[in-house]
Amino acid sequence: MQKFLIEGGAALDGEVAISGAKNAVLPLQAATLLANSPMTIRNVPRLKDVSTLAAVIEGMGVKVSFDADNNIHVDTSTIQHFRAPYELVRTMRASILVLGPMLARFGEAEVSLPGGCAIGTRPVNLHIAGLEAMGAQIVVEEGYIRAKCKRLQGARIVMDMVSVTGTENLLMAAVVADGTTVIENAAREPEVTDLANCLVQMGAHIQGIGTDKLTVQGVDVNALRGIDYTVLPDRIETGTFLAAGAITGGRVKATHAAPDTLDAVLQKFREAGALVETGHDWIELDMRGRTLKAVDIRTDPYPAFPTDMQAQFMAMNACSQGIGVIVETIFENRMMHVAELKRLGANIRLEGNTAIVAGMPNLKGAPVMATDLRASASLVLAGLAAQGKTTIDRIYHTDRGYERIEQKLLALGATIQRIND
Ligand code: EPZ
Repeated sequence: MQKFLIEGGAALDGEVAISGAKNAVLPLQAATLLANSPMTIRNVPRLKDVSTLAAVIEGMGVKVSFDADNNIHVDTSTIQHFRAPYELVRTMRASILVLGPMLARFGEAEVSLPGGCAIGTRPVNLHIAGLEAMGAQIVVEEGYIRAKCKRLQGARIVMDMVSVTGTENLLMAAVVADGTTVIENAAREPEVTDLANCLVQMGAHIQGIGTDKLTVQGVDVNALRGIDYTVLPDRIETGTFLAAGAITGGRVKATHAAPDTLDAVLQKFREAGALVETGHDWIELDMRGRTLKAVDIRTDPYPAFPTDMQAQFMAMNACSQGIGVIVETIFENRMMHVAELKRLGANIRLEGNTAIVAGMPNLKGAPVMATDLRASASLVLAGLAAQGKTTIDRIYHTDRGYERIEQKLLALGATIQRIND
């Protein structure tokens, strides 16, 4: 099992190039199943989740190849079956994203139920209900979603809850359904917008992109052409590296970034006392020797503060001046980093999904364990700020969502190494 070994205390200073967004490239990979000709996705981060989804799609007989410039080339002309197996789906639950496009284009799909993960039960009832509303016959048995439909029909779908991949699955189904589909209470995350923009360039007809109401005029099932599409920058990776600058009292400039996808997060960095400047594709955070102030956070769907940045701000609050209250409203179990942060000396009181964090002058390094992707990021941040050595176990969680994180941190002046234990 690999671990990170971090020596904390240094103020980071430098530039970091942001990779493509994990949560955009995954639906885009699924969207290639809709293309009637070969397709290329560019600016793809080298992440475990991306290669797992590629394996799911390749397993259906589709040609998938990565080149040396972080691009994926996909050709679905050789597809043989429409099954996403449990062995792969359970390791990467966003594999559920192949359900909508496969059913819409090929009329059948058999996808393993993704199951839960550390942060929650992660049900997919909204995905299933939406496809049934479009005429799919769906049976859930033996741990699999088995769906059939000669041709999906346009429908008006009101999502009970804002669901990012739920919206993405139904959008990919709707673009080649017969007739018009309206998705109300749709997710507005930038990754949903990136997918919609890609589908339009492939030939889909979508109105309301970026809003909570998507109206789709379906086209013929084989009408969407393969295109060359570049993934948008990862706003959560960006926020995580800016948080590394904030928590260490340093300066970090994120390049190849998308500042306009991070308004709520940048506002919170400023509230915490950081100086934040932005350009067309860059964001610079500079603490200028100021003390970090604790901030109150409430996670909500985009454009509000993202749940994927909650753990990182929990680490910041732990090292700040004052008391910050953090409320997690999206997932039922996304506070597991609290216990690990407390091992580093953080003063946090947890009441359900509300954490009251009293900032400490400094944390002390200790051995800790990653429990999920963003929790692991918060432990890296806390380790960078803590005095002494911190080891972080189970960093396979980190590798799911951060490309070459230790190399990028080393370039910013961090003392971090990956050790095999
Ligand atoms: C996406 O997950 C992201 N993953 C998550 O990022 C992110 O935290 C989440 O959206 C919220 O922004 C990808 O895009 C691959 P949801 P998703 O459906 O789509 C409930 C990371 O760290 N719900 O928006 O699975 C659900 O339980 C990951 O990069 C249902 O009840 O999240 C949750 O409480 C973690 N039924 C809420 O909705 C459904 O059918 C929001 O979930 C679907 C969802």
